[in-house]
Amino acid sequence: MASVGQLMERRGLLHRMSWPTEWLGAGVALLLVSGCAGPQSSLAPAGRGAERIAELFWWMTGGAVVVWLIVAWLTWSAIRGRVAKQDARRALFYIVGGGALFPTAVLTALLVYGLGQMPALLAPAPEGSLRIEVTGEQFWWRVRYLPADGQPAVVLANEIRLPVGEPVELWLNSPDVIHSFWIPALGGKMDMIPGRTTRLLLEPTRTGTFRGQCAEYCGESHALMAFPVVVAEKREFGQWLDAQRRPAAESSDALALRGREAFFVNGCAACHTVRGTPSRGLIGPDLTHVGSRLSLGAGTVPNDHDGFVRWLAETDTVKPGVLMPHFGMLPRDELDALAAYLESLQ
Ligand code: CUA
Repeated sequence: MASVGQLMERRGLLHRMSWPTEWLGAGVALLLVSGCAGPQSSLAPAGRGAERIAELFWWMTGGAVVVWLIVAWLTWSAIRGRVAKQDARRALFYIVGGGALFPTAVLTALLVYGLGQMPALLAPAPEGSLRIEVTGEQFWWRVRYLPADGQPAVVLANEIRLPVGEPVELWLNSPDVIHSFWIPALGGKMDMIPGRTTRLLLEPTRTGTFRGQCAEYCGESHALMAFPVVVAEKREFGQWLDAQRRPAAESSDALALRGREAFFVNGCAACHTVRGTPSRGLIGPDLTHVGSRLSLGAGTVPNDHDGFVRWLAETDTVKPGVLMPHFGMLPRDELDALAAYLESLQ
């Protein structure tokens, strides 16, 4: 009697895989893996947590590849009819051994290895570590640095800077819906849950600029809820934090001064704080140093003059569902003035 493979070959269903096809497949796989680099990749780790997660990923991928190769070889052998005539005991060996014992052993080993990584990922930061409170808002990030030396908190938004080689504890929360805080290059993700504070330990291992992103669907602009993360040397980080602590710079530029007036006339102060001015609103992001940030609108618009004008005039199209009303009704020169003022807040 013909084997399954012979039957398939006769019907033209089976072709020998040619080398060019195999090389093409390998090339595509390599291209896919090279897409795993960049500022938002957990496979290009820049933090202790991300290193452990990447290691776990490669062990699990390696395990999966070995299992797949064994299954593919068994399938191939069955199709080609190369397996010797079956008897009941051999069939039982394949069913119990390959169907129950082997997967149980492989999955148990991976589970034990994976669970073994968790205590280090969930450990609290050592006493005296830098603490940062991050609140997931609609659709932006409220960031408060809580210095250990008793100084007042430093409030900013949509940007996080960290010192390299230092453990940092993030206190995460949300006033309304669940968000998930994730900087893939630095560590695992952690849910931000209304009514409770979750904690995440991060320890960057190299300097650079990375990208964080909300990882839990939270509304129509969930995908537009990102933030840049800058990891710098400790001294550079300290200088940056000192600069953030200071009140807003006063600009003498005529356009910026007109913009400052427009800022108060149009009611921006009701929602935003600009430290050092009467602007004390708490609903929206703190704008004290908004001109020095790496992006606007939580990673959605470049931080330049045109970016500010676009954000002010087309807020609801740039980021649907955001609480800030758009100011597209203002004349262009007033938008320019507002943009000049916001840019001057370095
Ligand atoms: Cu916040 Cu998704």
